Amino acid sequence: MGRAMAALLLVLLSVFVHSNAGEEGFDVRQHLSTASRYGVVKDIADNSFVPSKIPDGCTPIHLNLVARHGTRAPTKKRIKDMDILASRLEVLLKEAEEQNLSLEKLPGWFLGWKSPWKGKLTGGELIVQGEDELYDFGIRTRERFPNLFDEDYHPDVYTIKATQVPRASASAVAFGMGMFSGKGNLGPGRHRAFAVSSESRASDIKLRFHDCCQNYKAYKKSQEPAVDKLKEPIYDEITSSLRRRYRLNFTKKDTTSLWFLCKQEASLFNITDQACALFTPSEVSLLEWADDLEAFILKGYGKSVNYRMGVPLLEDVLLSMEQAITAEEEKHAPGSYEKARLRFAHAETVVPFSCLLGLFLDGTEFERTQKEQPLKLPPKPPQKRKWRGNTVAPFAGNNMLVLYSCPANISSKYFVQVLHNEHPIPMPGCDGSDFCPLDVFKERIVAPHLKHDYNSVCNAKLEEKEAKPASKLSQLFRWLFSLGNSDKTLDEL
Ligand SMILES: *[C@@H]1O[C@H](CO)[C@@H](O)[C@H](O)[C@H]1NC(C)=O
Ligand SMILES: *[C@@H]1O[C@H](CO)[C@@H](O)[C@H](O)[C@H]1NC(C)=O
Ligand SMILES: *[C@@H]1O[C@H](CO)[C@@H](O)[C@H](O)[C@H]1NC(C)=O
Ligand SMILES: *[C@@H]1O[C@H](CO)[C@@H](O)[C@H](O)[C@H]1NC(C)=O
Repeated sequence: MGRAMAALLLVLLSVFVHSNAGEEGFDVRQHLSTASRYGVVKDIADNSFVPSKIPDGCTPIHLNLVARHGTRAPTKKRIKDMDILASRLEVLLKEAEEQNLSLEKLPGWFLGWKSPWKGKLTGGELIVQGEDELYDFGIRTRERFPNLFDEDYHPDVYTIKATQVPRASASAVAFGMGMFSGKGNLGPGRHRAFAVSSESRASDIKLRFHDCCQNYKAYKKSQEPAVDKLKEPIYDEITSSLRRRYRLNFTKKDTTSLWFLCKQEASLFNITDQACALFTPSEVSLLEWADDLEAFILKGYGKSVNYRMGVPLLEDVLLSMEQAITAEEEKHAPGSYEKARLRFAHAETVVPFSCLLGLFLDGTEFERTQKEQPLKLPPKPPQKRKWRGNTVAPFAGNNMLVLYSCPANISSKYFVQVLHNEHPIPMPGCDGSDFCPLDVFKERIVAPHLKHDYNSVCNAKLEEKEAKPASKLSQLFRWLFSLGNSDKTLDEL
């Protein structure tokens, strides 16, 4: 009897706690799309997925990493936007005062608000929180794969590459400092020096393919107005709500700046009770979705050029695996072959790379991409979606491809396991497994992309392809995307 009572109480209690979590459990820091901090989102679990058990006797022999830089400061352009916001707020307050409106509905921080970056002349750099993200990630990676990182550092054994952009190369350095800490002779941390190499920005088609791909640039430019148009109803609606709620004449541009400020305050300073608190949880979810839509259309599955231009990176990954297999089979001496290739780049690298692997799709969507058929846009909240910027490419977001060598009694000699943000992730191209026989991985996931080369994807004239009669659906898509004509340009993530 007592026990039944206790059980009932427990049930009631958990119902209570659960329903409370719906409202109070909303953590805005988990809803910042690609401005999310790695530590805040990396363990958001997909409870329905059960990772493969690695068969006994299989050992990792090579690691490929593709990571985004860590948390960074806003760029110069955004810093300017924040100065504009400060004067806008001043004007709005003055208007309200002139009308003798009560200011009591206003959040206190509004009065005399100054941009935290006021007077800062440079931007875009990796900040200390970003250094932490990569440093800790380096340590975790070494601990997770002890047999890959048991050797003395040599630049041919551990290849570290970054783009020429300082926040990416600084991220490589922070990661390496973690990974090789305690292994050298430098200072009390016994650090050791390691090499980070970069291609020139203008020709880095493995990590900055978006920068040299003419067809991609043309596509992006042509779609930006349409993306704005898609986001417009959300911004209009939220702007009206803000006006009603605070009795200030906010414009859509103010809403955009306030959402940007919210993301920066929450990620950089862990402040969630100022700009973020202007929005309700459901408004935040809509703004997050609007950001995710933009990333989907301009960087993700929205169009095949977005990720096909990453073919040189995919080839590089595959080549490194093949070299590792040769070294294993020919029993090369330790220290003479590569064990890890570590790359540090941008959302513009990690997002397309995830798409090349077919991540974040279900089985039928994967089939559609293989047949060059367009995908539906990620559905509006409260519907669930797999495509979430906070998961696909938060700061320091990454994919690791671990090559395993297995004993003769296993179905295949080599396997590839894909970890996204350090968690095994299903590959729809490999029947939803995270642990894929190398042959299947090559044939079903990689080969279809390698039919295209960078030059034809990026520099061939588009008109030829467009000449085919368009289907109803693609006409609709084009119509949707041809509305509007804003000249907003998106800065690089
Ligand atoms: C907002 O603007 C409208 C006209 O555009 C004006 O009638 C109203 O008084 C303004 N409200 C405030 C608080 O300034
Ligand atoms: C606001 O109040 C002041 C005095 O309190 C008055 O002189 C002024 O005319 C009022 N303005 C409006 C727009 O009502
Ligand atoms: C951020 O703030 C939350 C409370 O709002 C706190 O629990 C958390 O520890 C803070 N994180 C950091 C890194 O300061
Ligand atoms: C394969 O052989 C290894 C020993 O080489 C053994 O540990 C493992 O259990 C075997 N696996 C299977 C599936 O038979």
